[in-house]
Amino acid sequence: MWTPDSERYQRIEYRRCGISGVLLPALSLGLWHNFSEQDDQREIQKMLHYAIDHGVVHLDLANNYGPPPGSAEKTLGKYLSGDFFNLRDELFITTKAGWDMWDGPYGNWGSRKHLISSLDQSLKRMQLDYVDLYYHHRPDPNTPLEETMGALRDIVAQGKSLYVGISAYSVDETEKAIHMASEMGFSILAHQMSYSMLNREPDNGLFDMLQTHGVGSVAFAPLFQGVLSGKYLGGIPQDSRASRDTGNLQAAWITEDIQKKVSQLHSLAEQRGEPLAQMALAWILQGKPTTTLLGVRTLEQLKNNLNALNSAPFSQEEIDLINTITLS
Ligand SMILES: NC(=O)c1ccc[n+]([C@@H]2O[C@H](COP(=O)([O-])OP(=O)(O)OC[C@H]3O[C@@H](n4cnc5c(N)ncnc54)[C@H](OP(=O)(O)O)[C@@H]3O)[C@@H](O)[C@H]2O)c1
Repeated sequence: MWTPDSERYQRIEYRRCGISGVLLPALSLGLWHNFSEQDDQREIQKMLHYAIDHGVVHLDLANNYGPPPGSAEKTLGKYLSGDFFNLRDELFITTKAGWDMWDGPYGNWGSRKHLISSLDQSLKRMQLDYVDLYYHHRPDPNTPLEETMGALRDIVAQGKSLYVGISAYSVDETEKAIHMASEMGFSILAHQMSYSMLNREPDNGLFDMLQTHGVGSVAFAPLFQGVLSGKYLGGIPQDSRASRDTGNLQAAWITEDIQKKVSQLHSLAEQRGEPLAQMALAWILQGKPTTTLLGVRTLEQLKNNLNALNSAPFSQEEIDLINTITLS
């Protein structure tokens, strides 16, 4: 039986998720890439142990994380019935449905049929009775919002998830979902959005609206899938996400404009005396989201990224410079 470090809860800050009773670690761990049956199992064990030893008890999954889809949930299931057997109540486990998961008309989007069937599958893969937070993974333009929200309400009522959330919904869609949930007698705990120095979209009203309604915010892809580590400045390194067929980062997305911005940010990180990845995470940590989801492939990346907790506060001059670089 694995025993976690007794100092773990002193090693990270916990922040309230909206106006709920839930506290989340300022940095959390996402299992989108690198936690499947095809990945290095020794490294997975080291990363999961290190995360929990450092208080990173919020683990983010989705039905389709792998490859193959479902594999990341199976990996976590193995730990939940093994090393983490006694830790269920110390972990905050999330999953999602809405992207393509199985063939046919019920394998994706936002129908009641998809959301409830998919969660049942996720629970089996993770060997759990319930998850802590279940997200609708993306808005569905063709399913009435009433149906999607009704399914989320019933999932909570059935005890299959303690809380529910939404991901990638626009400002308008989010506002509608929050109001509808309230009319139906439940609340949205969190919104999960792409947010990084290179993707400032949530600054255009989403964060403000979530704060107004007391809903938490969970930032994903904080390093723009690794681009904000500076690793692509000299080309596409072997083993990097952009080099792998199974990675969701296409080399074509790393445009000249992005490279120019990353290069300028890299110089600023050097001046601050920290790696660019650490600075990019610290910038989010010192900003608006409740928590930020780390995506890591190695223990070394995880250790480096958790150092963002110790980064110096940004001066106003640095914030202005970052805005000039990234918003131009
Ligand atoms: N709701 C949604 O629709 C949605 C979408 C995407 C992600 N998410 C969630 O957000 C989590 C994080 O997203 P993400 O994986 O895209 O995060 P990210 O931090 O933007 O990218 C992570 C990748 O960057 C590279 N990296 C990380 N730290 C590094 C370091 N210190 N030095 C060099 N390279 C480093 C690694 O890729 P290499 O393989 O190149 O080393 C790593 O896998 C996911 O696991 C998932 O839980 C949610």
